Amino acid sequence: MALIKDEEINTIREQSDIVDIISQYLTLTKQGKNYVAVCPFHDDHSPSLVVSPEKQIFNCFTCRTGGNVFSFIMKYENVGFLEAVKMVADKVGYKINLDFVSANEKINQVDYEIMDLAKKYYLNNIFTEIGVSARKYLNSRKLGEDIIREFNLGLAPSSKNDLYKILIKKGYTVEKIEELGLINRVGLEVYDAFTNRIMIPIENLKGDVVGFSARIFNGETDAAKYINTRETPIFKKGQILFNFHNARKYIRNEKLCIIVEGNMDAINVSASGIKNVVALMGVALSLEQIKVIKRLNVPVVLMLDNDEAGLNATMKNGKLLQENGVIVKVIKLTGAKDPDEYIRIKGVDALKENIKYARNFIDFKLEFLKTNKNLENIDDLVNYVKEVINSLNNENDLTKQVVISKISKDYNIDYALLQNQINLMNVNHEIESSKKVKVKKYSKYELASAKVLYYMMNDAKYITIYKNKLGYLKERVERRLISEIIFYNNEHNSINLANFLTYIMEQQDLFEYVNQIISMNDENLNDDEFNNCIEIILKILKLDEINQLKEEIKKEMDVNKKVELISKLTELKKEV
Ligand code: CTP
Ligand code: MN
Repeated sequence: MALIKDEEINTIREQSDIVDIISQYLTLTKQGKNYVAVCPFHDDHSPSLVVSPEKQIFNCFTCRTGGNVFSFIMKYENVGFLEAVKMVADKVGYKINLDFVSANEKINQVDYEIMDLAKKYYLNNIFTEIGVSARKYLNSRKLGEDIIREFNLGLAPSSKNDLYKILIKKGYTVEKIEELGLINRVGLEVYDAFTNRIMIPIENLKGDVVGFSARIFNGETDAAKYINTRETPIFKKGQILFNFHNARKYIRNEKLCIIVEGNMDAINVSASGIKNVVALMGVALSLEQIKVIKRLNVPVVLMLDNDEAGLNATMKNGKLLQENGVIVKVIKLTGAKDPDEYIRIKGVDALKENIKYARNFIDFKLEFLKTNKNLENIDDLVNYVKEVINSLNNENDLTKQVVISKISKDYNIDYALLQNQINLMNVNHEIESSKKVKVKKYSKYELASAKVLYYMMNDAKYITIYKNKLGYLKERVERRLISEIIFYNNEHNSINLANFLTYIMEQQDLFEYVNQIISMNDENLNDDEFNNCIEIILKILKLDEINQLKEEIKKEMDVNKKVELISKLTELKKEV
């Protein structure tokens, strides 16, 4: 359980205004007594997210995301419940007087503590005698003390296991330290996992240190340039974007997210004043990382390395981002192998120009697809045109027209023919995307029970009607929710949706379920509708009973019992 009291959480919620908070992220337009916005949680083109100031909830009627102000922050900022409460508290200027620890966060708290200690240990080393050559190396790459401190760059010395000894002395177990990837055990011997390397701490999206990227710096040539923390309970490469936590607010201000390949690129670009930059941990973006980027709701500039791997990665990641509705631009640096080197050779202003004039992804694609093709050669040209047409999948209609008109002119191909190919592709694409649509279809029962539950969470009088007329729902999760609703109402002598959501929040599955229910309902309550849903459910329950009875009758061998069951069935059928 959270150490923060429910009352306090509710106070924070009541002091905040959901319209106010959401408008810090989205452009809200007033519509009747509600506000609407383009939904950031799916590829939305027309406003389908509705915010209700009266109920203090939001919901998207397309992707079925909904909830109260905390749910919004959790989804948008990709943070846990307590973190969301903390952020809302910050926004409304509410001072929380308790430590923020929840059962969930506590599990990893020790891990973060250890990683933080390791970070401090490495950082401390770099400013001592043994850190001289490491500092010199960083200085030679234009990274001075301020940047070293900003990114907590450190040094793992060449000792056998100094870090290990320090952590053991602090009372952590060898198993724990090993689990975090900080040591290696060989028989009875324990070695620090990183030695003689510059240490770059890697933070998760919330800013906790979860791993390290360790670079050689003193001329060994046989060793790998970088060694990274192996996958641990808290270090999952696919969930991390290097520098994201620091860059987030700049990305929002600049309305642009710059993505580079290497950590050193991100550090150097950021050090030169362009702070809205994150680095890939590896080359292909995971779906999780894409989701995080998508939620930023800003265009992305891919500024990867100027080599074949970088170009391929640009194509691959650009495609993934575009498919997920992110606007993609591309920078191809010339005269340097990566942004870090580019700044050193050509200066920051040149880099800024590049960013300003980043090319549209389609331009990149048109050129990229020519790689290894000789367009004088018919086969190659045919392939090229095919690939171009296929790559237009996620572009808007105007871009499609412009591209085929250009291709038609450049290669003297009939425009109508190209248009025809596009139309064919659109048909295929529609079939494909109709498979992809995530909007759930609900059964009659699900719709009715969601309504019943929704009403009960909004107004206690419906709890009474439910108890008198129905008193049962089919699914376990529904019954759990009902017992929480009844419990809450008994405790508070009233119920309202936004507060109830706060109360339920720490039961993840119930919380998700309630959010889903919210998104399935519009906000007007009326008794007839409620009663109608009760009738529908009663009827469905009866039909279930009938079906069950039929099954029993089939299986029953005893003739007398069978007759008994059949007469029961006839009775039931009459009732429906
Ligand atoms: N990388 C890695 N292991 C390697 C090489 C690279 O994990 N042996 C990862 C690192 O995260 C690195 C990224 O791939 O940041 C990009 O590699 P590269 O372009 O070679 O590194 P740079 O960022 O250019 O590093 P530096 O400038 O320090 O050479
Ligand atoms: Mn580099």
